[in-house]
Amino acid sequence: MMHATFDFSDATVLVIGASKAGIGAAIARAFQDAGATVTITGAEPEPAAEDRARFAYHQLDVTDAAAVTALAAATPTLDILVNCAAITARGEEMAPAFFSHVVDVNLHGTFRTAEAFHRHLQARQGSLINIASMYAMFGSPRNPAYGASKAAVVQLTKSLAIAWAADGIRVNAVAPGFIVTEQSARSRTDPAHVAAVALRTPMGRWGQPDDIAGPVLFLASPLSGFMTGTCLAIDGGYSIA
Ligand SMILES: NC(=O)c1ccc[n+]([C@@H]2O[C@H](COP(=O)([O-])OP(=O)(O)OC[C@H]3O[C@@H](n4cnc5c(N)ncnc54)[C@H](O)[C@@H]3O)[C@@H](O)[C@H]2O)c1
Repeated sequence: MMHATFDFSDATVLVIGASKAGIGAAIARAFQDAGATVTITGAEPEPAAEDRARFAYHQLDVTDAAAVTALAAATPTLDILVNCAAITARGEEMAPAFFSHVVDVNLHGTFRTAEAFHRHLQARQGSLINIASMYAMFGSPRNPAYGASKAAVVQLTKSLAIAWAADGIRVNAVAPGFIVTEQSARSRTDPAHVAAVALRTPMGRWGQPDDIAGPVLFLASPLSGFMTGTCLAIDGGYSIA
């Protein structure tokens, strides 16, 4: 119902990192419900079963620069790019090689796809939306690479917003709080953590992937036409409590 209030029937959308029925898939479904032509990618050979018939799908490793360039070359037109691909592993990110890999996926991957589709977005006066995280603002002792990469994504969002404003491209980000997806599955095996998050969140619950979709559609829509370089918190108030 909510998504029907947006009209993206003229838009072509690419959501990078939407293969696992998490936040990316919720965003992709919302754009499709609002009339957009939507393609999704993921690291896996196939998307989640429920999305297989719904979206055109490309397996894409965002650390593979040649593969990113090839996807851009094979994409005739694009209005909206959403960068959602990311990894994290609680407690494992002090290992230097893994730290570098997390930053490569989450930060460099975001830049690789943004840069590869710059000309597409310029041609359509389009919009880029990066998915950051509340951990861009907080220290994250068990996810130091994730936190550093997401803080850098917020900063990159500002820099690209300035650099590409004259090209007619708006660049924004969202910072989700604690959301129920596969990425948070490991931390959600700890009942004390699950309860502590809900208790500290003013709205009293974890977020769902659909909670992220509405603000992303807003940032891609003409309703936010004078917004660029911003990062919207979507966390039930966690970060202001
Ligand atoms: N779940 C949360 O609590 C939460 C909170 C804040 C921010 N986020 C962010 O939201 C976004 C989506 O998270 P999610 O919870 O839906 O995660 P998820 O693990 O369900 O999905 C992550 C996606 O990234 C893709 N991916 C992973 N490595 C890749 C690579 N090397 N190349 C290309 N794609 C790759 C996966 O294939 C998948 O499609 C991420 O950017 C994440 O950091 C999530």
